[in-house]
Amino acid sequence: MKSSIPLARRGTTIASQAGLGERLFASSEERGFAQKIDDGLALVEVGLLREVAFGDDLADVTGRYLLEAGGKRVRPMLALLTAQLGDGNTEQVIEAAQVTEITHLASLYHDDVMDEADVRRGVPSAQNVWGNSVAILTGDLLFARASQLVARLGERAIRLQADTFERLVLGQLHETLGPRIDQDPIEHYIGVLADKTGSLIAAAAQMGVIFSNAPAAYELPVVTFGEKIGVAFQLIDDVIDLSPRPEQTGKVPGTDLRAGIATLPLLYLRRDAVHDQEAAALLARIEREVLPHDAPPAHTAEADAHLAEAVADLREHEVTRVTLAEARRWADDAVTALDPLPDGPVKKALTRFAESVVDRTK
Ligand code: FPP
Ligand code: MG
Repeated sequence: MKSSIPLARRGTTIASQAGLGERLFASSEERGFAQKIDDGLALVEVGLLREVAFGDDLADVTGRYLLEAGGKRVRPMLALLTAQLGDGNTEQVIEAAQVTEITHLASLYHDDVMDEADVRRGVPSAQNVWGNSVAILTGDLLFARASQLVARLGERAIRLQADTFERLVLGQLHETLGPRIDQDPIEHYIGVLADKTGSLIAAAAQMGVIFSNAPAAYELPVVTFGEKIGVAFQLIDDVIDLSPRPEQTGKVPGTDLRAGIATLPLLYLRRDAVHDQEAAALLARIEREVLPHDAPPAHTAEADAHLAEAVADLREHEVTRVTLAEARRWADDAVTALDPLPDGPVKKALTRFAESVVDRTK
């Protein structure tokens, strides 16, 4: 489902989604703060469209494809929020916010190829439309654009971007390889989430502090917040993969499960299957009927029915409730990391942001 909201006006919608509306910010000072975030997001959107335009006709279409399909703009929003600890929406803050979103966008093109995802942001995934090679190269082109943009921000930003890129790739690599024989699968998995998602969210929050000239003492709290909220965000994603409402999530239910990707509910099921017969029976059925074996996942009516049943059973199982509780714990720890920040609208908004991450349904 393509969003019908013009990009430049999306700022307001995204900010209100994150709970930055009038109900939260009752005083006029706080409403002024929410307006600054909206204004910043609108600037980011205009710049994003400009930054992903290409002279090549095909790249111009494929590059803007997922940007225009939607997205929550979580990373730009965090950069803008933490920037209010300093000089606010400086030109560099807006550019840094764009860097984080374009980097994220680039990674989605690659991720959907690796995950063989059919749908992204409610539209067919890029490789479903143009094939694997074009999707991968579009991700590369977007990463090139993010690199050009970050170069304008100077050495500190280049270094941060390079370190973050390495963690994104290592997170994805470790996810692909799975845990080593001597590694606890759940610990390994949380490490993967911190690398593939926490790192870029943390970098966005850090860039907001750096490029608004806010006190350096605020960097560590917002980086820790970003890392932890990134893990919480991905754990909720695991639950969203089991959602019965694809029209709400913009994703096909059970995409991760069908591709054999470890998610926390599945890892808990494996752990519990050792001592719990019911968990063992469900796991055996999922392994037999859903998880890919040698061949790529089948799309027959029988395979689809097995997947739908497994998704429903896993959703109702205790392991999904425990995953939700774990996501809440990571979000609570993220908020605790903000203790050194001054009380005020930034801390309040980040706290509300953490709540909206665990409450999200898409
Ligand atoms: C989505 O995870 C994937 C990521 C958050 C990061 C993927 C990282 C890379 C592909 C490497 C970096 C590459 C570039 C070009 C920057 P998910 O599959 O769990 O989430 P989903 O359900 O949204 O697909
Ligand atoms: Mg994926």
